[in-house]
Amino acid sequence: MYGRAYGIYYFRRPALIVTDPELIRQILVKDFANYRDRFSADDDALINHQLQSGIFFTKGETWKRIRALISPSFSITRIKSMSNVINHSANRLGGYMLESARKGVPLDAKVLFGAFAMDVVTGNVFGIDVDSLKNLDDPFSRHGRSLFIYRKSMKLLTFLGCSFPLIARPIARFFNSGFFKTEDMEFFNTSIRQMIDGRSHETKNTNRYDFLQVLIDAMDGNSEDAERSGKLTKEEVVAQGIMLFVAGYETASSTLQFLSYELARHPEVQDKLMAEIDKVIGDEEPSYDACLNLKYTEAVINETLRMYPPLSLLTRENETSTTLNGINLPAKTGIAIPLSILGCDPEFWENPDEFNPDRFMENNTSRIDPLTFIPFGAGPRICVGMKLGLLEIKMALIQVLRRVVVMKATPEKLHMNDLTAMLQPSKPVMIYAKPRETQWAHSE
Ligand code: HEM
Repeated sequence: MYGRAYGIYYFRRPALIVTDPELIRQILVKDFANYRDRFSADDDALINHQLQSGIFFTKGETWKRIRALISPSFSITRIKSMSNVINHSANRLGGYMLESARKGVPLDAKVLFGAFAMDVVTGNVFGIDVDSLKNLDDPFSRHGRSLFIYRKSMKLLTFLGCSFPLIARPIARFFNSGFFKTEDMEFFNTSIRQMIDGRSHETKNTNRYDFLQVLIDAMDGNSEDAERSGKLTKEEVVAQGIMLFVAGYETASSTLQFLSYELARHPEVQDKLMAEIDKVIGDEEPSYDACLNLKYTEAVINETLRMYPPLSLLTRENETSTTLNGINLPAKTGIAIPLSILGCDPEFWENPDEFNPDRFMENNTSRIDPLTFIPFGAGPRICVGMKLGLLEIKMALIQVLRRVVVMKATPEKLHMNDLTAMLQPSKPVMIYAKPRETQWAHSE
């Protein structure tokens, strides 16, 4: 009704909503220098202080310094070295699903895939093997799950934070409160500090390859000097540790949840997926390179991300005042790119409500403007964990579909929680699986 770029008020702040691929390209890629930061609304007062220097929330030169320090740990070589941890967790996931399928027990998809994603992050970020599916009460598992439980009180907090920032900010600070529950944040804060201190007593030749070690190696003992020396303060190391956990857990588990929901509805897609996995991987342990050949699997993941982008809103703000397509933008105007709206726009997608992975197969992709499909964002601030996320989703699918067939998923129709940029169904998705007749599985 208002076109592909229109203004709104996000509470007291003017903001621009953009769904025009050309303008999106301009903001995220071409003119990135002026649109480097995410929009900080007045409710930023509600970002827990332990996370405030996490890369997702940082701005300007601080973001640049942290991104440069973190990026090498997501290189292909590093990701290949994480394959064993990922596959180990995926194997456990498949085994657990087979056991439940044999007993005829339905599974809560978010808890199930959340436990898997949690093992992947705790393994790769902190070097800890939790086995969350068996130990749902392990503190990492418990606090990790609790982080993303939708709280109705957040609606009120957001409303207060944005309407009365001058009052809400000091109150939030005083009560040490924020978007995430204080006790969860404090658990991660304390645990990571203990790990950092513990590791400083270890002998230098310990071979650790997890993210936390990369962050510790990039730490400057003297906080004052960190900015100048291009290193990280201890606060920043802790914040990145929590950040990677938060970012890696919710997104990958949501994708698997929605994907399994769609597989239950589309047995023909599931059959093709199994056939590809059987053909390309067989009963081998999947490697990073072998996973690159799973083209149909990739198309199924892409189609899931088109319909259900776990982080459904990208935001930016312009550093200096500028004009965008004739629209005057005073400095620090909020810009929002709604991925869930882009993904169901009939101008970009034929029959957008239809789950059809074929639209992402090679012969058809030339019709897709790359800036209409950006579930990981785009440009220099694109998701740093994209390759890791895709690999873990593929490995999970391999180990699950070797063993079971997803038969049914409830509820019949999904409704999403409102007022959150994280796409979450309002009722738990339950999946019903049965053992596969031809089992590739070996270890359960
Ligand atoms: C299916 C999986 C995932 C999806 C769909 C996803 C999506 C996204 C999106 C949309 C953004 C914002 C990009 C932008 O503003 O342009 C983002 C940022 C980010 N993601 Fe992911 N993500 C996934 C997995 C992961 C994983 C596994 C990690 C790490 C363990 C991770 C770490 C991050 C970080 C640190 C940022 C902030 C980057 C920055 O500000 O420079 N993500 N992700």
